[in-house]
Amino acid sequence: MSATPRTSVPSSLEAPLPMTLPRLAEKKRLGEPIVMVTAYDYPSAQVAEEAQVDVVLVGDSGAMTVLGYPSTVPVSTDEMLMLASAVRRGLTTPLLVGDLPFGSYEASDEQAIATAQRFVKESGCDAVKLERGGTSVQRARAIVDAGIPVMGHVGLTPQTATALGGYRAQGRSADRALRVAHDALALQAAGCFAIVFEAIPAAVAEALTPRLEIPVIGIGAGSATDGQVLVFHDLLGVYDGLAPRFAKRYAEVKAQMVAGVAEYAAEVRSRAFPGPEHAYSIDEHELEQFRLVLAGS
Ligand code: KIV
Repeated sequence: MSATPRTSVPSSLEAPLPMTLPRLAEKKRLGEPIVMVTAYDYPSAQVAEEAQVDVVLVGDSGAMTVLGYPSTVPVSTDEMLMLASAVRRGLTTPLLVGDLPFGSYEASDEQAIATAQRFVKESGCDAVKLERGGTSVQRARAIVDAGIPVMGHVGLTPQTATALGGYRAQGRSADRALRVAHDALALQAAGCFAIVFEAIPAAVAEALTPRLEIPVIGIGAGSATDGQVLVFHDLLGVYDGLAPRFAKRYAEVKAQMVAGVAEYAAEVRSRAFPGPEHAYSIDEHELEQFRLVLAGS
């Protein structure tokens, strides 16, 4: 009796597997670069999904890119949860990480756990991210102990940029680089599954990445980290606020959007839009009846 032949699906047609923490760890072990991007709404989530990135971060950078605040500091938990819920609806495969906003986790372990739980329960996030070492190490440990995966973030931490002397690269002296190393190792020991290195010298990131067992995702930290993250609006040119030097542009979407809306405006003003192909018709007889009744009224 012959065995039933197994049908094989071409790899390009196979649905990608959902990203998990073990698969991320495996990527680091195998030296496969991890791709992370931010998203803040349903369409940007769909773009990230179709582009097959590994991790999507609902970054508090959304405070600036989509909500128009001057920094990440003012954004509230409720605002972040609304963005994260929209991203969740557009996402199936990548790991979804929600950024805990400034003031939502620092005060106590209880506050940190309660906020992290809202990101998981109300918005469907798989994990949360918090910034800094120091007291954030204990908050990370508490959230991990409550069963929620945590991503750390060291180097330039925008929520506390004022205390760092502004939006500037960190770890540029031996002392400061050791501080970054200390914070990263402490966050790893607290149970973080991955860590973001933001705006630190490439050589410092290169020395630290192999010393950490967890994946290191860099932004402005050179090419030796286990993965890279960029802000969606920076990489696509959707947002023309101040962009840091590490924010490479892969498209100029805002210019295309402005051109599209300007052409629409010109066509409305010249009455070129809408054309007959954009309008609905009515039966001639019905129209005649309508006109007669209208004229008599
Ligand atoms: O908020 C954000 O977008 C971030 C990334 C830059 C890592 O924290």
